[in-house]
Amino acid sequence: MKGVVLSGGSGTRLRPITHSMAKQLVPVANRPILHYGLSDMAAAGITEVCIIISPQTGDDIRRSVGTGADLGLDVSYVVQDEPAGLAHALGCALPWVDGDDVLMYLGDNMVKRGVADVVDDYRDKDPNCQILLTRVDNPSAFGVAELDDRGQVMRLVEKPSVPKSDLALVGVYLFDDSISEAIDSIQPSARGELEITDAIQWLIDHDRTVNSSVVRGWWKDTGRKEDLLHANQLVMRDLEPDVQGEVIGGQVRGPVQVAAGARLIDCDVTGPAIIGPRADLRRTTIGPNTAIGARCELLDASVEESILMEDVTVHGWRLRSSLVGRSTRLRGAAPSQFVELTLGEQCEVIGE
Ligand code: G1P
Repeated sequence: MKGVVLSGGSGTRLRPITHSMAKQLVPVANRPILHYGLSDMAAAGITEVCIIISPQTGDDIRRSVGTGADLGLDVSYVVQDEPAGLAHALGCALPWVDGDDVLMYLGDNMVKRGVADVVDDYRDKDPNCQILLTRVDNPSAFGVAELDDRGQVMRLVEKPSVPKSDLALVGVYLFDDSISEAIDSIQPSARGELEITDAIQWLIDHDRTVNSSVVRGWWKDTGRKEDLLHANQLVMRDLEPDVQGEVIGGQVRGPVQVAAGARLIDCDVTGPAIIGPRADLRRTTIGPNTAIGARCELLDASVEESILMEDVTVHGWRLRSSLVGRSTRLRGAAPSQFVELTLGEQCEVIGE
């Protein structure tokens, strides 16, 4: 089995962060989202992976993953010239897949328990397609599956305004080579895209075997800021405390990781929290559920339930439920209250 990871898309729901970076490279617990999916594949025994990239962000993805050797993978890249849908993206990779079975993983998805179980299940039962489902509160935001009394998938609808079930399609799919004919046979949807849900519906309508299973453990589509912060929280639930950096004065409580080369002077850190290499924090309160990227500089600040990417400077501000892009600076006379911000890369915020 080979792996295909979709890592194009414009990430409109994560603007302004995605004006200048790929949504799949936004860090969760200081690690790009994409790397979690790639590690899941390696853990499931898949070694050959093709990443579908866009012309806009492809170079960044290539730089971040490289050959994949660090993750135990052999990674190839294929450019999808236009954002013409998930089925179109998979179609771009099919010459590379070359008739093998394929696991397709959306690069902005995270699955707590990985994909090893589902890969084993697929190998065991050998259907034409296997999808993963999970119950959600807002099915209209996803592809939705309708099952019959025996639990067989009858119908899949992409983002229905009136959903017939609360079973959303998780962004992990397994196919045999019949997906090729399905992709060739479907037409673009109302939003002008070749939908993977329509391709799977084609398989169902043409009597191919489409199995489904409900994911155990949590799953996140990190397409929106709230989901990203929630994913950050979920990943850090399992954080092993590990303080390698320098902690001088102050307090560190609960599961906290401080990377080598980071320095905390008179700080109060409540885990779960993770502080990246060469971060420099003084008289600052951190946590819980907070990730501070490499080389951030925080002085007289408070940050909780947030993600600060690399090289962020915060002097005096109090941030909650915030997502702050690389090399952004917040300084000047800060508001006395906590503020909730979403800031892109290289912004300059100066208090009055
Ligand atoms: C895509 C799929 C949708 C699926 C979702 C999972 O939607 O089209 O069927 O439920 O991923 O993350 P997107 O998030 O690209 O809008």
